Amino acid sequence: MLDKKILLCVTGGIAVYKAVALVSKLTQAGAHVKVMMTESAMKFVTPLSFQVMSRNDVYFDTFDEKDSTVISHIDLADWADLVIVAPATANVIGKLANGIADDMATTTLLATTAEVWIAPAMNVHMYENKAVIRNISTLHGDGYRFIEPSEGFLACGYVGKGRLEEPEKIVDLVREKFTQSKTLPLTGKKVIVTAGPTRERIDPVRYVSNFSSGKMGYAMAEAAAALGAETILISGPVELEKPSGVTVVNVESAAEMFEAVTNHFDSASIVIKSAAVADYRPKNIHDQKMKKQVGDAVIEMERTTDILKTIGKMKRHQLLVGFAAETQDAVDYGIGKLESKNLDFIVVNDVTDPDAGFGKDTNVVTLLSRRGMHQSFSAMPKKILAKVLLETILEEESEHLDDR
Ligand code: PMT
Repeated sequence: MLDKKILLCVTGGIAVYKAVALVSKLTQAGAHVKVMMTESAMKFVTPLSFQVMSRNDVYFDTFDEKDSTVISHIDLADWADLVIVAPATANVIGKLANGIADDMATTTLLATTAEVWIAPAMNVHMYENKAVIRNISTLHGDGYRFIEPSEGFLACGYVGKGRLEEPEKIVDLVREKFTQSKTLPLTGKKVIVTAGPTRERIDPVRYVSNFSSGKMGYAMAEAAAALGAETILISGPVELEKPSGVTVVNVESAAEMFEAVTNHFDSASIVIKSAAVADYRPKNIHDQKMKKQVGDAVIEMERTTDILKTIGKMKRHQLLVGFAAETQDAVDYGIGKLESKNLDFIVVNDVTDPDAGFGKDTNVVTLLSRRGMHQSFSAMPKKILAKVLLETILEEESEHLDDR
């Protein structure tokens, strides 16, 4: 039984009808649910539906104090063990990202110290709009957790990403949060994983990149989520399915990856940099396709920011895990990177090994730590290796994990 207090904030979109089902399923699971609605949410469904489903008053007017002994938006904010915004419109996401509190829902959201989960639902183009992406990224950095919308047929007629996650899945996530919290070692911790290659554009049709498939990084993210972490997977362009329970932030270039990592860095406990980031990018990106010329061409390249080295200088409580793809003297180069980038661990793979490296389903690695650990792992599937690596790191760090 989910004997927890859940405050559901319903904002205005056609997916409001799913929020009614969500309240029903949460109460069936044993949760105590109270509902707040925005004015636009009430255009889709009346408060009465939520009142009946939750067996509680529904809140929508900041100034309609139902109990004169308390201030209701503060009282509700303090009451909740968890706040869920579902469906969350682009509007409420924008307000929250900018600290705007102009109705019952947003004032309560700013006042609560409980964890807030945001389940967006909107048109696919709105979801991909740069301002919305920027606001979501700000909120990630502020510690809000997102329940990513799924893909499918949208009420506006488009097919794409933007459907509110199914109520059953949201209830599963709530159940996971409250039932596994005592057993999983990374519960309550935020883990950033980077994966895949970066692409550095030359012109509208060409780029410089590498052969990383993202398999190692996606496996690390899946392992982190399975150990209870809120996992943010910052991914270069790859052809892989999103691992379950993970929030994916898609990026293309080293500069975009740098921005995404630093956005999430403050609130992260662990950063795992499995991505193969370009060290150089073309100094000038041509607006038009470059034309063939007689003779050779020279593309002037400049250094990208070393993301890991930069966060190595910024780190406070964060545990930093790097990867090193080497073709000779792998361990020596690995030790050099461990020190020069101020890392806690580095996973070294000699990519000349036929079972290791780029694109393979397996890897062969050596794990080195700042405290002198040196452990080699024979060839195994990346999905298993990721779990083994993470468990080994956590065991090695067990005494310090609470401070992260
Ligand atoms: O994706 P797969 O096909 O599964 O392949 C997995 C892998 C071989 C890519 C992976 O196991 C791996 O080794 N990733 C790191 C590859 C790499 O680029 O290493 P590096 O030695 O260039 O960089 C060292 C570390 O610094 C890495 O953690 C890298 O993410 C980071 N770095 C590098 C350059 C840069 N500009 N910024 C960085 O943060």
